[in-house]
Amino acid sequence: MTVVGVIGGGQLARMMIGPAIELGLELRVLAETDNSSARDRATSVGDYHDLETVMNFARDVDVVSFDHEHVPTDIVRELENAGIAVHPGSAALAVAQDKIVMRQRLTALGHPVPEWAVALSPDDVTEFLSTHGGRAVAKLPRGGYDGKGVAVISDPADVTAWLDAGPVLLEELVEFSRELAQLVARRPQGETAAWPVVETTQVNGVCAEVILPAPASETRVAADAAELGRAIAEGLGVTGVLAIELFETPDGRLLINELAMRPHNSGHVTIEGSVTSQFEQHLRAITDVPLGSTESRHPWAVMVNVFGAMDTKRYARMDSLSGVKVHNYGKDARAGRKVGHVTATGNDAAGTASRARAVAEIFSTDI
Ligand SMILES: Nc1ncnc2c1ncn2[C@@H]1O[C@H](COP(=O)(O)OP(=O)(O)OP(=O)(O)O)[C@@H](O)[C@H]1O
Ligand SMILES: [Mg+2]
Repeated sequence: MTVVGVIGGGQLARMMIGPAIELGLELRVLAETDNSSARDRATSVGDYHDLETVMNFARDVDVVSFDHEHVPTDIVRELENAGIAVHPGSAALAVAQDKIVMRQRLTALGHPVPEWAVALSPDDVTEFLSTHGGRAVAKLPRGGYDGKGVAVISDPADVTAWLDAGPVLLEELVEFSRELAQLVARRPQGETAAWPVVETTQVNGVCAEVILPAPASETRVAADAAELGRAIAEGLGVTGVLAIELFETPDGRLLINELAMRPHNSGHVTIEGSVTSQFEQHLRAITDVPLGSTESRHPWAVMVNVFGAMDTKRYARMDSLSGVKVHNYGKDARAGRKVGHVTATGNDAAGTASRARAVAEIFSTDI
């Protein structure tokens, strides 16, 4: 039996468990805590910053993959040097780990990105602001997630603490008409499969809703996004699932926001929405078997995140809302934490979205 080792025990690892069982793979997870979201398959608990811990976990598996992008690049390289198959590999992963490297590589490959610069000092920030209408988006290069480490600024003083810690990425504040995400999977020898582009809605920098397919994008935007997805996967040598967060501008251009080289929140909608989910496809890609169909199973699928707490007693209130699927990540309650999501499928976009929102509303709690 092929053994897949996933580093990180979050909800992405958890959602690989079902597809791994169906595919007949053995999934093992190196989790951060013994109460992780993927605890059912957490065969080891340990610190992914520790080479020995990671090496001991990786030695007995056929392929290593990730639930997040925070494993130090040096450790990923050590695994590769020891002859262990790692997907995505260190060279590709390095691009997803650092937003400055990401901007540099995408620019070098000629892909469309917002205007950007690296600031090392307050003077650099002043200069960028003066040439970009007095406002910019500042980003910590590493470690950010769910909008943490991203700030709209109008004064160098807004990022003093960040500059003390190291370089800061500055970007033009893009006046996008909407945000999209393109997911694509790639096998080691180059076979790719792209899902239809989805529309995403962020609230306070955090993904709240996803709709498959992105409305009104049957023609050029969808084709452009899919083409971009394949080109980036190929250009960076990504293996597994690649998610590309995009801005669509009012004149119909696409700009790349960021990349994730793993299943992604924008792809949860593929579980019910697509013939092959992003989790199944990631496992197929990293174990190097032919990719599955990315066709949609329904005209529309809408995913809504649940934040804070997911109280299973509330399942009883879902009776009249059949056709909406609930995913509970088994996480402890915490304000603002992504603890689950729901997905509705249907024949009309508005009705499907309102059914998904109604069920998410049942679970949403102020804590
Ligand atoms: N240059 C920009 N112009 C306008 N809005 C932006 C820009 N960069 C980021 N944003 C907004 O902030 C959100 C979060 O930014 P980004 O995706 O870089 O952060 P993150 O914390 O890494 O996010 P994630 O939750 O995807 O891990 C984006 O989805 C977008 O809504
Ligand atoms: Mg993002």
